[in-house]
Amino acid sequence: MKKYVVGSTKDIPEGSRTLVHVKGRPIAIFNIKGEYFGLFDRCPHLGGSLCRGALTGLIQSKMPGEYSFIREGEIVRCPWHGWEFDIRTGKSYCDPEKIRARNFPVSVEDGRHLMEGPYVAETVPVKVEDDYVVVEL
Ligand code: FES
Repeated sequence: MKKYVVGSTKDIPEGSRTLVHVKGRPIAIFNIKGEYFGLFDRCPHLGGSLCRGALTGLIQSKMPGEYSFIREGEIVRCPWHGWEFDIRTGKSYCDPEKIRARNFPVSVEDGRHLMEGPYVAETVPVKVEDDYVVVEL
């Protein structure tokens, strides 16, 4: 697997997402509380853009009348028909065993480490003093 530098961490603040293209593939990069995740930006249903989906969470209930909202901002809802996916894993909540959004490993590397390689920075200028988001493909 090759690693691709897709941008600075400064450009994707906590709770946000951005669309990048790596080797012609659209990949939505999400920042959840400082952790970065990559999902193929095509919903497995009919191809809606997951990068444009609303972020939500899960409702958990231990007994009738009692519930809590958990994992806020970790679930993305496709803007076309509302299928929901776990951003951390790509798993669907309508059929977790069969349907999933393709996910890509994403890491953060410091500029000094990137200078050593073997990374590919297609369009991102790299500075030693900054941190960068890296996608494996
Ligand atoms: S295209 Fe995503 S739910 Fe239909």
